[in-house]
Amino acid sequence: MKKFLLILAAFALLCCSQKTPEFHVVPMPESVTPGEGVFQISGKPFYVEEVLDTSSRAAVERFASQLSLVSGKASAVSSEDSGQPVRFLLNPNLGEEEYALNVKKNGVNVEASAFNGFLYAIETLKQMLPEEIYGSAKASAKWNLPVVSILDSPRFPYRGVHLDPCRHFWSVEETKRIIDIAAAFKLNRFHWHLTDDQGWRVEIKSYPRLTEVGAWRDETMVGKDFEQFDGVRHGGFYTQDELREVVAYAAERGITVIPEIDLPGHMVAALASYPELGCTGGPYEVRKVWGIAVDILCAGNDEVFTFLDKVFDEIVDIFPSEYIHIGGDECFGSRRYKGEIPWDNCPKCRARMRKLGIKKGPEARHYLQNYVTARVQKMLEAKGRKIIGWDEILQGNLAPGATVMSWRGTKGGIEAASRDFDVIMSPNKFLYLDYYQSKEQDKEPLAIGHYLPLEMVYGYEPYEGMEPGTEDHIIGVQANLWTEYISTPEHLEYMLLPRLCAASEVQWCSAENKDYKRFDASIDHLFRMFDVMGYTYAKHARGLIGLPGSEQKAAPAEDCQ
Ligand code: ACM
Ligand code: ZN
Repeated sequence: MKKFLLILAAFALLCCSQKTPEFHVVPMPESVTPGEGVFQISGKPFYVEEVLDTSSRAAVERFASQLSLVSGKASAVSSEDSGQPVRFLLNPNLGEEEYALNVKKNGVNVEASAFNGFLYAIETLKQMLPEEIYGSAKASAKWNLPVVSILDSPRFPYRGVHLDPCRHFWSVEETKRIIDIAAAFKLNRFHWHLTDDQGWRVEIKSYPRLTEVGAWRDETMVGKDFEQFDGVRHGGFYTQDELREVVAYAAERGITVIPEIDLPGHMVAALASYPELGCTGGPYEVRKVWGIAVDILCAGNDEVFTFLDKVFDEIVDIFPSEYIHIGGDECFGSRRYKGEIPWDNCPKCRARMRKLGIKKGPEARHYLQNYVTARVQKMLEAKGRKIIGWDEILQGNLAPGATVMSWRGTKGGIEAASRDFDVIMSPNKFLYLDYYQSKEQDKEPLAIGHYLPLEMVYGYEPYEGMEPGTEDHIIGVQANLWTEYISTPEHLEYMLLPRLCAASEVQWCSAENKDYKRFDASIDHLFRMFDVMGYTYAKHARGLIGLPGSEQKAAPAEDCQ
């Protein structure tokens, strides 16, 4: 932190003396050495070393054409070296996501060893320029970069954001906007929660009823009233062409899409489509209320595994990700639910338990879930993929090779790491962006509950509470956006921003490089970025509450303790 106060002071000094632009890049790069003066980049030609791969070259070309558009001065890109001042060079000594950036008064050198490194260098350059760089028309601005030397790489290799299109459906265009903003903050995974009780969103050609029936619910509960309904049919799904389009779009921005097929719970939309997959045979209907359903896939019926195998055949064909998320959360009713579940009374499930030697008792359901998880894990291994599951998959026995996504706080992640599993930390307390951003809930759009202000997201330390020596099992951190109470793109973005930016520093910055005061000083820059890009965002950090149009002043801090 001391290092950054010094850096900020140096930039502030330069700012007064030579109008060097402020340095407010988020997430803050790992090492920043400021110099004196500026380099004026508009209209300057770019050199791209011949050896750069086509994706890196395309990224440089996109940056050059964006700069040309907003500055009104063309920046030509060429691989013939004529001493161009803006230079993109391969440096095989840097890590895959690392980059080095050297701005001098007479030019810029960008070095990386791979595509993501070049992408992150470009994102840093964009944030060092006036926010108009994100615009869609010529803008009058000073296209100056501060003289600086940066060497940067992320703390965690997995930096994710999750989106739920099941509770409310988000168009391909809105989904791409979420990917765009994630890319601007150097995230590299998009966890797409494509199936749930309230809607099945992915076209599966071998099971057409999943989208003919399962993608639609007749109506939805109103607010938090489980007995009142809006009478409006809701739904939608992505065709396989659309899914491929999103995968390619994300890949161009350095982001891998990880699909989630949530099982064996959260499957009511699939059961409504194919009732024979449930223990009772139904009838089932696509769920119209939130909360946790008791009906789940039958674990004793081999047809269920044939179904999953065929579904995953199509899923792996669409999504090239190393990981497939198989859910695994909330399989046995809500946490308060103490009743029987269909598995308890299903002859097929009971026969399966007997065959597996699972003894009766409260743990039996966990062991049967372990059986389902392990069988799906094997199925996916045979297709060349690894599984991620929510932390419930740890209950009982979990086979080696699974990655655990810790969402019920950090406990599951800590335990998983100490049991030698890789972990993605996504604790609800710090990273569930559907939680309220203020304690003055009456001034906020309806949310699921709880309280998660920007500072709290920022303050999350993924290694806290871990057994020493197990830290390397934390491969990443993810922010999640569930959408039970979010039905418009404006509200969605309001919940995401700027909390996603705070999360990006948890994901990218070393613990020593984090400093909320320094981050807070970047917030006006972030807000100008969002304005130019046309995103809706929350302004709690500047004393306002509520969606734009209904914003109100926040109460003085002591009133909302
Ligand atoms: C979850 O929030 N049910 C993973
Ligand atoms: Zn059953």
